[in-house]
Amino acid sequence: MAEINVTNWNAPITFIGAGNIAQAVLGGLLRAGIDEHYFRIVATRQRMLPCAMTQLPVTTDYVSAVTDAHYIVLAVKPALAHTVASRVASVLSSTHNTPPVVISFIAGITLSQLQEWLPLPTALVRVMPNIAAQICQSTSVVMANNVLDERKKQHLETLLSAIGRSYWVSDEMQVDLATALSGSGPAYFFWLAEVLRDAAVANGLPHSLAEQLIVQTVFGAATLARNSEMDLGTLRRNVTSVRGTTEHAIQYLEEGNGRNLFAEALTRAYRRARQFSTS
Ligand SMILES: NC(=O)c1ccc[n+]([C@@H]2O[C@H](COP(=O)([O-])OP(=O)(O)OC[C@H]3O[C@@H](n4cnc5c(N)ncnc54)[C@H](OP(=O)(O)O)[C@@H]3O)[C@@H](O)[C@H]2O)c1
Repeated sequence: MAEINVTNWNAPITFIGAGNIAQAVLGGLLRAGIDEHYFRIVATRQRMLPCAMTQLPVTTDYVSAVTDAHYIVLAVKPALAHTVASRVASVLSSTHNTPPVVISFIAGITLSQLQEWLPLPTALVRVMPNIAAQICQSTSVVMANNVLDERKKQHLETLLSAIGRSYWVSDEMQVDLATALSGSGPAYFFWLAEVLRDAAVANGLPHSLAEQLIVQTVFGAATLARNSEMDLGTLRRNVTSVRGTTEHAIQYLEEGNGRNLFAEALTRAYRRARQFSTS
């Protein structure tokens, strides 16, 4: 059998939901080279959805979109998880020959909840990607049930590696923690970059220059951390000379509870993800 890679991909993928994360992942998969005719998208109204350099049709018809799918990606808000999974289940029960792999991006919703709502045996995978999927730089945390066999797992890895790096875990608590860390993570850095940009502007730097400087700084710092043998603490200390500017700034953050604020923010995001499975 020929090795599967995204450029000879031939498995239809149906997205249920056409919002932020669906568009980001679709954009990344298109950029990686999957032909657009393998995608079907279901949402609440018909339209053309801009993705990467093209536009994909969105339908409201679950039957036509789900029937021949090899992968079904659930990309709706947690409150809609049960409704949407039940609609997928009713199509699968009546029409599907080869059972598809169902992938859920939905925060907090557990594999056992999905298993309850979908027909047995369905290969189920929780994937927590992030918005950088649109430039094929997602951080995706993945956990599957035991219906996903080795061949399907390899196939799925081909898909996930097209949008960035993926990390397998075997405990759903870790998926929920990853939701708080890497799923929400880009927003924390955008927020911090906004705060720093605005402070620089308030002190007299032009807005556009301040924005370019902080964005390039975040990019440089992340690239350095990813390529370095050094851990984050060492990298930080290397910028922090004794009695220098950075030391002044970091001391102020430490004394002002900055560390605890971020720790509590992450814990709250994690708790929120856990709440979704019980509400
Ligand atoms: N945003 C992120 O960065 C991110 C990252 C990782 C995981 N997630 C998870 O991904 C899920 C979606 O998040 P999002 O930010 O993409 O939300 P979003 O932008 O609000 O998109 C939700 C989508 O669900 C669609 N939808 C609503 N009811 C539907 C139905 N009955 N059938 C089919 N589609 C329906 C909406 O359709 P219309 O477009 O027609 O309104 C919309 O496209 C959430 O559970 C979130 O936790 C998000």
